[in-house]
Amino acid sequence: MKKKNKSKKKMFSAIQPTGFLTLANYLGVLKHWKSMQKKYKCIFCIADLHSLTNLNKNIDIKENTLDTLAFYLACGVNPDKSIVFIQSHVNEHCKINWILNCFSYFGELSRMTQFKNKSKKNVNINIGLFNYPVLMMSDILLYNSNFVFIGNDQKQHLELTRVVANRFNNLYGNIFTIPNSIIFKQGSKIMSLQDPSKKMSKSDKNNKSSIFLLDSKSEIYKKIKFASTDSDNPSKILYNLKKKPGISNLLNIFSILSNNTILESEKIFNNCNYYKFKKILSNIIYKKLYSLQKKYFYFRKKKEYLLEISKIGAERASIESESIIRTIEKKFFFV
Ligand code: TRP
Repeated sequence: MKKKNKSKKKMFSAIQPTGFLTLANYLGVLKHWKSMQKKYKCIFCIADLHSLTNLNKNIDIKENTLDTLAFYLACGVNPDKSIVFIQSHVNEHCKINWILNCFSYFGELSRMTQFKNKSKKNVNINIGLFNYPVLMMSDILLYNSNFVFIGNDQKQHLELTRVVANRFNNLYGNIFTIPNSIIFKQGSKIMSLQDPSKKMSKSDKNNKSSIFLLDSKSEIYKKIKFASTDSDNPSKILYNLKKKPGISNLLNIFSILSNNTILESEKIFNNCNYYKFKKILSNIIYKKLYSLQKKYFYFRKKKEYLLEISKIGAERASIESESIIRTIEKKFFFV
């Protein structure tokens, strides 16, 4: 058994515990983690240090960290099989972060789309926000990850990770493993229910834009009912991103949750109007979230247990990071 584990490639993934998780987080990332554990040696991190970059008085990071961990478990993350830990518990992230800062260029970070978008909204832009991709790089490279599971929006950050890792390797020998991304196409582009040109996001100010994993039945029905639809051919449920972006987004959600292809889903709703389609969609979302919520609350109540597994996870993560840290330290410092 041990041998098998050794030959498995490593996969890293993380979510920052900021705000409530949405259906987009679930469909794009969380949903796939359970089965990933069969194929890869998985490292699942709760990126609480990243959350400090967009602190908000209404957000309690500590509570959110436990919420996120409980969701990981509810989605089938198995702490016996995988390393599950909280980023701030493993000091090596900050150490390698500083080193990687010194190999990342100001120009490169200035070009990051997420930074440009986020900094547009703020007057005082903290350096953490600018540095965000380097911390992400640190998470990934610290563990020699072969694969990184990300949402579509993090592609540019992974590309930068590869660039900086290669730069470092060219200077100091093959120290870092160059990671590849895993992105599930179908679930990686879940759009806002109010404006299908924007991503569904947990930080969207308009609560109606996103379905949160803890939404009640009536909230789900209401949000889907008021989800923006398209004036083009209003009687038809068809997938057409240009002409029918709203319906296409809803159809995409349906097809993932029902395990049908988009084509099959179109056929299912061949004779349906928007109203009926939305009812059926609300129902399937509700069913999925209800079963997830039951598991979530089961784990969320066990605070001691959550803290215990995160402690064990941090110890294992720390051991896992040792070889990279040692190698780098030997290059630069007296150790
Ligand atoms: N930036 C990611 C997000 O917001 C979270 C994250 C932090 C991450 N570190 C990572 C994702 C490393 C993948 C790999 O979703």
